[in-house]
Amino acid sequence: MALYSEVVMDHFTHPRNVGFIEDADGVGQVGNAKCGDIMKIYLKIENDMIVDVKFETFGCGSAIASSSMATEMIKGKPLSEALKLTNKAVAEALSGLPAHKMHCSVLAEEAIKSAVKDYYDRNGIEYDHTQFPDCENCAHCHE
Ligand code: FES
Repeated sequence: MALYSEVVMDHFTHPRNVGFIEDADGVGQVGNAKCGDIMKIYLKIENDMIVDVKFETFGCGSAIASSSMATEMIKGKPLSEALKLTNKAVAEALSGLPAHKMHCSVLAEEAIKSAVKDYYDRNGIEYDHTQFPDCENCAHCHE
């Protein structure tokens, strides 16, 4: 069996939603300290709905495929749904990732959460802090 699914290869070679949004309502950037890869997500939000989303990823193929798939999964969706998106769901939508590449999908989940949090912070919107990873202590960056 090939290491990467056809869906991964498709999203890696033809990534959706690449780029940035100049007047984004929320921007989130996360990095993995170990591999050095960085992912940035831009959200355009209207009435709690994600009307547009773009990403810039400096990273491996799995991180690019994960960004592409994750942005497709939250586009046109309410923020509440975007916050429920897990890295597992992204990996499943990609028809799986090799075990040693699962952390690449974690970047996508965290970057989206961080962009939503940025939107809440900018607008003084109250939110449940437990919904967001605590960057200082996040095990992911120290793994
Ligand atoms: Fe670092 Fe994929 S190897 S995100």
